[in-house]
Amino acid sequence: MGKVTITNHPLIQHKLTLLRDKNTGSKEFRALVSEIATLMCYEATRDLPLEEVEIETPIAIAKAKVISGKKLAFVPILRAGTGMLDGVLALVPSAKVGHIGMYRDPVTVKPVPYYCKLPSDISEREVIVLDPMLATGGSAIDAIDQIKTFHPKSIKFMGIIAAPEGLEALTTAHPDVDIFCAALDERLNEHSYIIPGLGDAGDRIFGTK
Ligand code: PRP
Ligand code: URA
Repeated sequence: MGKVTITNHPLIQHKLTLLRDKNTGSKEFRALVSEIATLMCYEATRDLPLEEVEIETPIAIAKAKVISGKKLAFVPILRAGTGMLDGVLALVPSAKVGHIGMYRDPVTVKPVPYYCKLPSDISEREVIVLDPMLATGGSAIDAIDQIKTFHPKSIKFMGIIAAPEGLEALTTAHPDVDIFCAALDERLNEHSYIIPGLGDAGDRIFGTK
């Protein structure tokens, strides 16, 4: 079973409260999503493999650590996942980026995929999937299904708010995927929106409602 981490760092929790507030406008909302993603990325990359190299400091030869191999690929789920991208690239600027496009059908709440473009060397990379909302889990499960067909070294999911229903569905469908979220909320409402959640993440990031 994959590991589930709820990142309860005070800075993340404070920013999350501002994010949930319905009076927070798009400009501040975007900045907060990005800042939370940076802080969460620190935790999600904790186990990246290191290797030893030899370098010369101004004083002496030293053995030191660098991240080994081809490193990371970030894969945001369109649209709202792109709001987290700048934040994670601030920590790992050399990472490659793939995109998966899907939206939830408003009636069935099933994901409707419309785009997939992944780095060509993804099989040599550790993938972190980005999407702020894990509601029913359908979008994350489908995105990870698609990514797995390209056989990356590993896959993690980084969200901001999860519903218990989505967490259960994702851990059941993909038990090998470690999950990082800033909050585990109460439940879904009758429209499969997270309670209390933050509303529609894509609309709040892009000001489309
Ligand atoms: C939101 C969110 C997730 C999905 C979560 O996207 O960003 O992708 O819903 O719901 P699920 O866990 O029930 O699948 P949405 O479908 O609103 O698309 P958008 O980002 O393009 O607005
Ligand atoms: N997608 C969102 O953006 N918010 C929710 O609460 C559920 C799905």
